[in-house]
Amino acid sequence: SNLKTIPAPRGIPIVGNALQIPSDGPAAFFEEMAGQFPEGIYRLALPGRELVLVSDPDLVAELCDESRFYKPIEKPHSDVRAIAGDGLFTARGDEPNWGKAHRILMPAFSQRSMKSYFPEMLEVADALVGKWRRDEGKDLDVVADMTRLTLDTIGITGFDYRFDSFGSEEVHPFLQALADSLHEAMGRLKQPPFVTAMRRRQIRTFEENVRVMHSLVEEVIRERRAGGGDDRRDLLSLMLNAVDPETGEPLSDENIRNNVVTFLIAGHETTSGLLSYALYQLLRNPHVLAQAYAEIDRLLPGDTVPTYETIMKLNVIPRVLDETLRLWGPIPAIALAPYEDTVLGGRYPLPKDQQVMVVIPALHKHPKAWDRPTEFDIDRWLPENISQHHPHAYKPFGNGERACIGRQFALTEARLALALVLQNFAITDPNDYQIKVKETLTRKPENFMVRVRSRQPYE
Ligand code: HEM
Repeated sequence: SNLKTIPAPRGIPIVGNALQIPSDGPAAFFEEMAGQFPEGIYRLALPGRELVLVSDPDLVAELCDESRFYKPIEKPHSDVRAIAGDGLFTARGDEPNWGKAHRILMPAFSQRSMKSYFPEMLEVADALVGKWRRDEGKDLDVVADMTRLTLDTIGITGFDYRFDSFGSEEVHPFLQALADSLHEAMGRLKQPPFVTAMRRRQIRTFEENVRVMHSLVEEVIRERRAGGGDDRRDLLSLMLNAVDPETGEPLSDENIRNNVVTFLIAGHETTSGLLSYALYQLLRNPHVLAQAYAEIDRLLPGDTVPTYETIMKLNVIPRVLDETLRLWGPIPAIALAPYEDTVLGGRYPLPKDQQVMVVIPALHKHPKAWDRPTEFDIDRWLPENISQHHPHAYKPFGNGERACIGRQFALTEARLALALVLQNFAITDPNDYQIKVKETLTRKPENFMVRVRSRQPYE
């Protein structure tokens, strides 16, 4: 290929670098390798293809030029597409169904819409507080409980579907099927296609898991259609009733199902990781935790019930989230590809459609863009400091028109959940947790346990 100007680690003929990539930690490997290439760009040989990986912020700035680069649906997106079809996340940009769903759904994710989801977000955050009150003094599995919170929140706000995760010790069947199928999809990242095709048992299990998820979603849609539900103003009613302002067409049943699946997945996986890492960072940075408590005690003294307006007044907690997303953004890579043959950084030729990954954890700590890159410093996010940032060194929500549609949703939900947790509890880390990252489609801290004590009398 003509990628040879791009530096590369030594590989083995035929399998290239595939054997070096650990199945349980490709993102950690991509980040570690990025550290070995000061050029901020390198390539890996995989069976039958090459992957270019970029972490230099100036090269990323070029990749973010939407007139030159698009989001390709190749591995791992192409394998996730077996689950989420032509839903927003895994649709190709030139598929008419992407544009239709994007235009129909965008208004539902404006900052203004967040206010209408707030009562339900609060109801679920209260359920988290209730569980932690009951479990006071015990080891709490943070990721498991934050996943309950985020799954229940997107279920209720989006589709009026109650997973009721706080009522059960068990993992919901939807989540089990999702975890297993994502594990399989990500495992295929480095498999040659003929190997994937031979794994009959895994293929069958994968298909069964996809069926579990699809049938749950089809039931949700059926119930809504049967019950009328015209009074609901949620994502589902929008998808069932709205027409695309550009074409005048509604969404097809299959596309609606794919988008409900997409929102159930994208709407909870990442936000639960963000909340878990945020608690981890707060426990490691007692001076920041103290600032956060001071803010909560000022805005939400005693058992004051938070309103949407109070949550929007928070200042410390949003900066905790911004900085957590810099150091531990749950999505470790985004993919881009050029529409035409091009040259990156004036010296690296890239053929048309060559997949390039932005290594987000390496970009977010790149010394060209960040002072004291590994230090957790929420003051980076004071307005006067933000204006000094490199414009393309922070991409936790992706880029351009394919960036995260749920950004405001996630940040509103996370602010509220963190605020309620701090209002109600003193938190400790009894086991002196050493971070261990678990990678699925996203990354999360594995086995992170905390204990809580109530800060105020029970009502
Ligand atoms: C896309 C991150 C929460 C729905 C994306 C992308 C990123 C991202 C990086 C771009 C992916 C790519 O380029 O392939 C995050 C993070 C979140 C979060 C870090 C939480 C902290 C949410 C929530 C929802 C959501 C709460 C829905 C309620 C989506 C959808 C897309 C997307 C539908 C695809 C958009 C499109 O291409 O049209 N997200 N996300 N995300 N996200 Fe999020």
